[in-house]
Amino acid sequence: MSFDTERVQAEIQRLLGETNLPNSRANLVSLGCVHRIIARDGKVTIILSLPAQVANAREQVRKDVEQRISTIEGVTEVQVLEKGAAPAAPEGGAAPQQPPQQAMGPQGVPGVRHIIAVASGKGGVGKSTVSVNLAVQLARSGHRVGLLDADVYGPSVPKMLGLEDARPEVTPEEELVPIEKHGVATMSIGYMLDDDSPVIWRGPMVTGLLRQFLGQVRWGNLDYLVIDLPPGTGDAQLTLVQTIALAGGVIVTTPQDVALLDVQRGIQMFQRTEVPILGVVENMSVFECPHCKKQTQIFTGGGGESAAKRYGVPFLGSIPLVASYATSGDSGTPVVDSDPDSALAKVMASIAKEITTRCPV
Ligand SMILES: Nc1ncnc2c1ncn2[C@@H]1O[C@H](COP(=O)(O)OP(=O)(O)OP(=O)(O)O)[C@@H](O)[C@H]1O
Ligand SMILES: [Mg+2]
Repeated sequence: MSFDTERVQAEIQRLLGETNLPNSRANLVSLGCVHRIIARDGKVTIILSLPAQVANAREQVRKDVEQRISTIEGVTEVQVLEKGAAPAAPEGGAAPQQPPQQAMGPQGVPGVRHIIAVASGKGGVGKSTVSVNLAVQLARSGHRVGLLDADVYGPSVPKMLGLEDARPEVTPEEELVPIEKHGVATMSIGYMLDDDSPVIWRGPMVTGLLRQFLGQVRWGNLDYLVIDLPPGTGDAQLTLVQTIALAGGVIVTTPQDVALLDVQRGIQMFQRTEVPILGVVENMSVFECPHCKKQTQIFTGGGGESAAKRYGVPFLGSIPLVASYATSGDSGTPVVDSDPDSALAKVMASIAKEITTRCPV
């Protein structure tokens, strides 16, 4: 049987998602312990990055993973290493996938406790809707919150918060002052643009801009900074994720079966940068009729939930497609504020709870 790298990679992800740390109910994937997976011609190398509390059980984890992966059809050799003991490139094969080079390590933001990134495999799935509502929800529950619109290709935070005409002040120290709305300190490239013409940025420019944003915005003291990432999981996004010291990542997807692959890419992006995955949110799951409230399944699938299950990351909930959510987005009123009993608000509350539990302040 020929070695189908994609199938084996997916199978490895699934099995690692089923492998819990000793005395823990959390698995290796959701804890961000999988540093790299190299699968080639039957040979699989997995590099783990285990937390200090694993202490004496490292060998047990290694053996457990080795044993599980060796059951995959087509796999003839398994090597499980810990970060810091990476092997050379497989003989005659391509070098293991490396994240793009960076000059510095992940960057924190002074005064900011936890940075949470919201990502999606493709555009238009509701990433900004989730980012904005999540930030406002966290603020509603009493936290100090910032929101960085890092989607330089299509910044939508200004519109979603009714701040299209806002322009940030610049302090004498040349720092940008975030614009406050609904209790959230916000910054967006959209504040610097004078029209709606599409912005074309290449990867390195995106990273440079984001570094500048992070370093030159006077965020003050924040419990949480939510980042709305540009859509996709390519090099530009990977570099961003790698550049910032993230406490966790949320993946937004839609219910189609093809979403499975998108979610897998999102998971891999966070794994390669050792960012704990807070979970997957499925948006636009069912259509809710504004008149009779009857729910209709538009897309076949349930891709978000099954992908989360398959890769062993938490499923954070489904948000239905509701006309008033789009209107809220267009009119600058976040749904969690205007309709706190809505399905969207409930999902946001459960994500916020997950975040405050896993990243306490
Ligand atoms: N559950 C929903 N019900 C109704 N409309 C929604 C829902 N989620 C998002 N929308 C609307 O769909 C559009 C796309 O959503 P959003 O801008 O949040 O997606 P995105 O992933 O950030 O897109 P982009 O890739 O363009 O940044 C917006 O007009 C938004 O108001
Ligand atoms: Mg967006």
